[in-house]
Amino acid sequence: MSLVLDLPRHFLWGAATSAHQTEGDNTRSNWWHLETMANSPFKERSGRAVDSYRRYREDMRLLRDAGLDSYRFSVEWARIEPEPGEIDQVQLDHYRAMIEAAFELGLTPVVTLHHFTSPLWFFQNGGWAIPDAVDAFAAYVEAVSPIVEDVPWICTINEPNMIALLANMSAKVAATESAPSTLDSRPVAALASPAPSDAVTRILVEAHRRAVDILHAKTKAQVGWTVSCQGFEPEPGGEETCASIKWSWEDRYLEVSRGDDFVGVQSYTTRRVGSSGPLAYAEEERQTMTGWPVRPDVVGVSIRNAWQVSGGVPILVTENGIACTDDRDRIAYMEGALRALESASSAGADVRGYLHWSALDNYEWGEWGPTFGLIAVDRDTFCRSPRPSLDWLGGCARAHRERWDAGCLARDSSAHP
Ligand code: BGC
Repeated sequence: MSLVLDLPRHFLWGAATSAHQTEGDNTRSNWWHLETMANSPFKERSGRAVDSYRRYREDMRLLRDAGLDSYRFSVEWARIEPEPGEIDQVQLDHYRAMIEAAFELGLTPVVTLHHFTSPLWFFQNGGWAIPDAVDAFAAYVEAVSPIVEDVPWICTINEPNMIALLANMSAKVAATESAPSTLDSRPVAALASPAPSDAVTRILVEAHRRAVDILHAKTKAQVGWTVSCQGFEPEPGGEETCASIKWSWEDRYLEVSRGDDFVGVQSYTTRRVGSSGPLAYAEEERQTMTGWPVRPDVVGVSIRNAWQVSGGVPILVTENGIACTDDRDRIAYMEGALRALESASSAGADVRGYLHWSALDNYEWGEWGPTFGLIAVDRDTFCRSPRPSLDWLGGCARAHRERWDAGCLARDSSAHP
């Protein structure tokens, strides 16, 4: 049975994807290059992904028919600007059509401008490691701004902390000349690695700030970035290390959100920290298909932390989910997560929405094994099969609206747009 939760009236109920993980044939991006190069660090290629470049309307309709009211997706910089300074109007039109499809179906679009992938030329010029990155990103944001003019929520950069972390991991791999296969591509799993790069972080912060200014000037959107929240927990004796890791891997990015319109909280599991750093999961804890402990409660911890560190910036849960083989586990996970979210909201955090990761099974950064989707996809026929969890989450959304429409929920929504 779906839940009826005490949440604000205009709370968004939705699901999320990213372009590279779902569209297919994203041939101009750095990830495509890394996937297809000789001695690729990745096990599998994205290929045609789940063909959402063509099937996005069907994807959105499934979400809407289930009762959800919002969809987070990303636009692909490498398609829009395949060569430096060359803006492809056909691709801008494509993403505009996606935004309009969402509006037509009654879904609130939440659009991400950068979700891990960049054009190959940007990557080959030095990517986020060189200050020129800020101008390059700003020019791209300028080019996109006309098509997102009426989008209510825009995420500038997805998980800058993971981008900065991966930058240091690649540096470590290059320095030790270890085989590229030792590089674990899955961002949240990539924790047994050096801390996020300081230099890259500073560039990302500047790029975010420039993007916020452009988007405030040119659109009506509420703008923020999304942070990977790890739910760090100290082992006895690891308290000091944990506090310092929590700041450099998570809180410094939440602090950047002070003054933004919102911050995106992305939470999956927890990570214990000992005196020498984050600890690997014990075999018995590795319960999901990505090898993470099942900890739906952590989203509540992450929301409270983001609320406190950002100094009270409104929160969207822009990702939360589980890769599992049994869909009943997904429902149980969402139930725990939503209860934790409700409790953080009741305690005062201004939480504006929950966007489940993911709408569809998709390319999990190097492999196809882990299935995160509310909708299963046959990768030969691209046939979509909604799982019971989609109806379950849609049921929560429907129940929420019905209760509000019937005047049964008392929470004042006046502060919400
Ligand atoms: C990323 C997603 C990814 C998910 C699960 C997040 O860090 O934003 O792209 O699929 O985690 O690993």
